[in-house]
Amino acid sequence: MTSLQGKTLLVTGASSGIGQALCDLLVERGAMVLGVTRRPSALSENVSPIVADLTQREQISEIFQGLGRIDGLVNCAGIAYLSRITDGNPADWEEMWRVNVMALSLCCQLSLKHFPTSGGRIVNVSSMSGHRVPPSGGFYAPTKFAVRSITDALRGELKSVNSPIQVACVSPGFVDTPLLDQYFLGREETLTQTRAAMKMLEARDVAWAILTILEAPAHVEIGDILMRSADQRM
Ligand SMILES: NC(=O)c1ccc[n+]([C@@H]2O[C@H](COP(=O)([O-])OP(=O)(O)OC[C@H]3O[C@@H](n4cnc5c(N)ncnc54)[C@H](OP(=O)(O)O)[C@@H]3O)[C@@H](O)[C@H]2O)c1
Repeated sequence: MTSLQGKTLLVTGASSGIGQALCDLLVERGAMVLGVTRRPSALSENVSPIVADLTQREQISEIFQGLGRIDGLVNCAGIAYLSRITDGNPADWEEMWRVNVMALSLCCQLSLKHFPTSGGRIVNVSSMSGHRVPPSGGFYAPTKFAVRSITDALRGELKSVNSPIQVACVSPGFVDTPLLDQYFLGREETLTQTRAAMKMLEARDVAWAILTILEAPAHVEIGDILMRSADQRM
């Protein structure tokens, strides 16, 4: 096992859902946790705030200015609008692209020089919607496919220069977090039916999977975790 005691972890999306649940577990493990958010008052206790709007490239750069050593980066921030290709609002596509894809990629790139020479771990949160396109998934699923391929590209680039930094991707199915209220906006009845039909994953279930990657022994590289509620069909 890799101990996280005294290690420094940078977590985006730290103010809600999966990111917040992960921060709580990391604090319990004795890690120093830096949480990126637009809403610092929403962070859990003992999480140090870094305020940034991830749609803004300059604000992403500022996260890393003056940052010291980090041992891990977890890209949890994400947004999910139900915005179809046929009739969705391109402004929604652009915001999802900026947060889910551009910010994640830039955080990966800018974090690299902050890792110690002994390495560390980057975990990107994709989705089961990054593995198959749900009929109503619209532009969200493409952003999550991109997260998977960016993770693979980064892993390949790092391995080609013998970097000890490991890269992983976690792809959950439905997780009961505020993101679903956004995704099902205007389709609240469908959300109620979905909740009634399955015991969804909870944020801490996904946080536990991310923790498993971060705590794996140094010689063990977990590259991908796919996880869904036992009740979820696909
Ligand atoms: N919930 C699900 O069913 C599900 C399933 C599969 C994958 N995922 C993925 O899991 C990740 C976490 O989702 P969640 O369910 O935990 O969502 P959530 O509870 O809605 O949390 C989303 C987080 O993203 C941050 N964020 C959004 N836009 C931002 C921006 N412009 N700048 C900075 N931070 C921003 C929010 O921070 P602030 O608002 O405080 O800034 C918040 O902390 C996402 O990548 C999502 O796509 C979720």
